[in-house]
Amino acid sequence: MAYKINNLQEYQTEYAASVENPEAFWAKQADRFQWKKKWDSVLDWNFSEPDVKWFSGGQLNISENCLDRHLKDKGDKVAFFWEPNEPSETGRAITYKQLHTEVCRFSNVLKSLGAKKGERICIYMPMIPEVVVAVLACARIGAIHSVVFAGFSASSLTDRINDAKADLVITSDGSFRGNKTIAIKDIVDDALENSPGVKNVIVYKRTGQPVKMKSSRDLWWNELVEKASAEHKAEAVESEDPLFILYTSGSTGKPKGVVHTTAGYMVYSEYSFSNVFQCEKNSIYWSTADIGWITGHTYIVYGPLLAGVTSVLFEGIPTHPTPSRFWEVVDKYKVTHFYTAPTAIRSLMACGLEHVTPYKLESLKVLGSVGEPINEEAWHWYDDYVGKNNCPIVDTWWQTETGGILISPLAGITKTKPSYATLPLPGIQPVIVDSEGQELEGNDVEGNLCIKFPWPSILRTTYGDHERCRQTYFSTYKNLYFTGDGCRRDEDGYYRILGRVDDVINVSGHRMGTAEVENAINEDEAVIESAVVGYPHDIKGQGIYAFVICEDFDQDHDKIRQSILATVTRIIGPIAKPDKVQIVRGLPKTRSGKIMRRILRKIAEGDVFNLGDISTLLDPGVVEEIKKGALVTL
Ligand code: PRX
Repeated sequence: MAYKINNLQEYQTEYAASVENPEAFWAKQADRFQWKKKWDSVLDWNFSEPDVKWFSGGQLNISENCLDRHLKDKGDKVAFFWEPNEPSETGRAITYKQLHTEVCRFSNVLKSLGAKKGERICIYMPMIPEVVVAVLACARIGAIHSVVFAGFSASSLTDRINDAKADLVITSDGSFRGNKTIAIKDIVDDALENSPGVKNVIVYKRTGQPVKMKSSRDLWWNELVEKASAEHKAEAVESEDPLFILYTSGSTGKPKGVVHTTAGYMVYSEYSFSNVFQCEKNSIYWSTADIGWITGHTYIVYGPLLAGVTSVLFEGIPTHPTPSRFWEVVDKYKVTHFYTAPTAIRSLMACGLEHVTPYKLESLKVLGSVGEPINEEAWHWYDDYVGKNNCPIVDTWWQTETGGILISPLAGITKTKPSYATLPLPGIQPVIVDSEGQELEGNDVEGNLCIKFPWPSILRTTYGDHERCRQTYFSTYKNLYFTGDGCRRDEDGYYRILGRVDDVINVSGHRMGTAEVENAINEDEAVIESAVVGYPHDIKGQGIYAFVICEDFDQDHDKIRQSILATVTRIIGPIAKPDKVQIVRGLPKTRSGKIMRRILRKIAEGDVFNLGDISTLLDPGVVEEIKKGALVTL
């Protein structure tokens, strides 16, 4: 088992060592891995370009560290218990040895199709073991994987395939999600109408539904794998070779491809996983995330496999066939470590205790939360009814860009406090700054959260557009990485994340850019202009509220709403559908034409008596009208 911090004092010693001599600290962590060639220098960096390099000169393969490294001691240990969408379907148990064999075979398949080191491969798949195989096989041959969440639309998929210039797509015929069967391959076919660069599509048969296979382009996974050898020598890649691209939304423009590289990401994903969750030899760990998000990358695939842990991989959703599904799975596999999102907790909370109390949940030792601030009510419900006041809750704060958890309690070590992510992990140097970029020192301060020193899994660039990376994260405050989150450091030095300070909405733990949703709404032919803001939502954390100007205000508003929802679903996917659409005659704009979102946010929150100064508006009368038609209880 990896090096782990055992108590608070050790945490403090480690933390101090990591700040005093980061290079020595991380070199010690990196030493536990298998290197094909050792690094020449631990860290070279500047945040102004930005240019960050960890373990330069080193060569390695992360899939070898996830799999081959464990074969001697843990070959027969289960890597994944796969639990299908329907409880009536038999699951699968896949050992480290079996996973290794499957990954080797699939690596040979990829090679046989001409895939090479550095090439981008897009993965659009449901939560089945083969998605893990696909990810690790890409890493094994040195190709860069770009996993796209299978809930995104064809048009989003096209954008991501084209941006990454991927020429191979790995997918499945369909997917099961709750009581729906989704025609995944049809979505890929639609996407590829506008992605001429894709030469091959590999299709795994999951649902058995009929699909159109385009000859010479589309190939069945099973047929390819049957012919492939189970021997594969992992490719040596450079420490700073990209491992993956993962698209995420920002406050402007289209989603950007966050790039993570190999060695630093490997070291940090394992270090953070081991220390935050504190798994033991016989632990059964379960993260309910999807591989299409960063949590799936770092804490379903890489972290747990690097640490040699047994995990549950779950295909379904929390409420199918009943809202007891999570607890049924916990009891079935005797899950010890359970990691989910506040939105799931809140939605299960709303379904009633009768779905939880019949379950023993005795195996649980550690509970985790990720993706959005966890409100105190949800925290206590999780603590009382799931953890039975016996399991530490690790409220883990991090981002797609950070690659791994940066601020979190270490399970059983850091004293927790509801809705606080508590303390930074060793190696992480957070600072809170005011709007001018002045560091707010000491405790009991509130401002914008930045990080002042690189950690191994910091993003290196945004794919194909380094300037965008610099602009977004490294230009707001000189020499600091800016997270986009507001934060409070309380009198005990504990960190509490307050949510985004930019135009990003966090809907059910998923990041949505307001501009991105507006662009999709504006594609609807009835729409002239729109403005989107977030508002507090009991289950989702934040909901999406859209104010829309249409060609004809007197048309049937419900009809327009339906059409807008369909348009957004077509362009982005169902996760971006606005919760509320208010048709308005005008938007509150300044004389220079800028929409004053502050006012719209207040209205969406139902706080219409505190709109502040509206005298700078071109037409203050607009506000009265919007207030009258607001879809809130005032
Ligand atoms: O606002 C923060 C919120 O989610 C954002 C990052 O979103 P994403 O890149 O999609 O990654 C989500 C999974 C790591 C952050 O900027 N966030 C994430 N975790 C927390 C959180 N907010 C409060 N508390 C958390 N534990």
